Amino acid sequence: MSSLDQPLILGIETSCDETGVGLVRGCELLGDEVASSVDQHARFGGVVPEVASRAHLEAMTPTVRRALDSAGVKLADVDAIAVTAGPGLAGALLVGVSAAKAYAMALGKPLYGVNHLVGHVAVDQLEHGPLPKPAIALLVSGGHTSLLLMRDLATDVQSLGDTVDDAAGEAYDKVARLLNLPYPGGPPIDRAAREGDARAIRFPRGKWGDGTYDFSFSGLKTAVARWVEDTVRDGREVPVNDIAAGFQESVVDVLTRKAVDACLEHGVEHLVISGGVAANSRLRALAEQRCAEAGINLRVPRPRLCTDNGAMIAALGAEVVAAGLPPSSLNLATDTSLPVDRPLAA
Ligand code: KG4
Ligand code: ZN
Repeated sequence: MSSLDQPLILGIETSCDETGVGLVRGCELLGDEVASSVDQHARFGGVVPEVASRAHLEAMTPTVRRALDSAGVKLADVDAIAVTAGPGLAGALLVGVSAAKAYAMALGKPLYGVNHLVGHVAVDQLEHGPLPKPAIALLVSGGHTSLLLMRDLATDVQSLGDTVDDAAGEAYDKVARLLNLPYPGGPPIDRAAREGDARAIRFPRGKWGDGTYDFSFSGLKTAVARWVEDTVRDGREVPVNDIAAGFQESVVDVLTRKAVDACLEHGVEHLVISGGVAANSRLRALAEQRCAEAGINLRVPRPRLCTDNGAMIAALGAEVVAAGLPPSSLNLATDTSLPVDRPLAA
């Protein structure tokens, strides 16, 4: 079947600080536009929910317009609307869901409220084609760190483990703050680490070898804070690059080890890594090395698709439509803590 035979899905994402609009047919990405309010949050060192909501409101219709134009389609061509129903910030989610309801009503097309976390995994299909079943997914973002057993993107997602405290991205953001690096912390730490020696300082590996697929990063963050404090107290210069490299090595060591272990234990040959932290160069390199050693086929979307975007929501919408699941009602509610095992919210 050519992708033209498949429905055109408009995806809307507003769970955090990116207004994302994507257009997808099946596994084909037609349009992907993102308006970010990250600059407005930078001086606060984290996302300010009210500021994000207002920015979504302002960016929504222009971003939809840009996505339609870049895809070369008209609003009337859209067959279904998918929107992030959760998890995410309450006010931010509400803007996207309200807009999606308005488009669905105006166009007389079905509405699907979908799960942001599963969308992060679904987006890989736009780059590497249909996800083999089953696959293990390592989802690493600013708000979540999970290992998932994916038997079917639309209908069967099982959580194997989660972070018990900070998410991996959150740890990057907090450690960046300790090192006086800008927000969001992932990209500057990634860059600093390339200039540092990852073996100069060995930081603790949370929940290493504990027999679970859970993660913990708050002890690591505290260890970095102590290191910085001690260095400053002793009047020595803080070795930012070495700290960044040592911190990053601890994070990616645990992430990749547990992901590979999950594949081996469940007899799954395919691993997909996604979410904002999957843009990390060291995580990508170490995952590649360890998967090759273990005979696991690794899929990681390009960095642009790893961070929040609307194409990931359209990609999951396409799966949900293809699975024949019923559309959401126009009373669809947002759910700030929508569990990952519910790809379709309601
Ligand atoms: O998936 P995402 O865009 O938003 C959420 O759903 O949370 O992830 C954002 C997170 C931030 O914490 C950011 O610091 C992190 O992804 N991030 C990275 C990199 N690029 C973004 N972390 C490590 N290395 C990177 N290159
Ligand atoms: Zn995300």
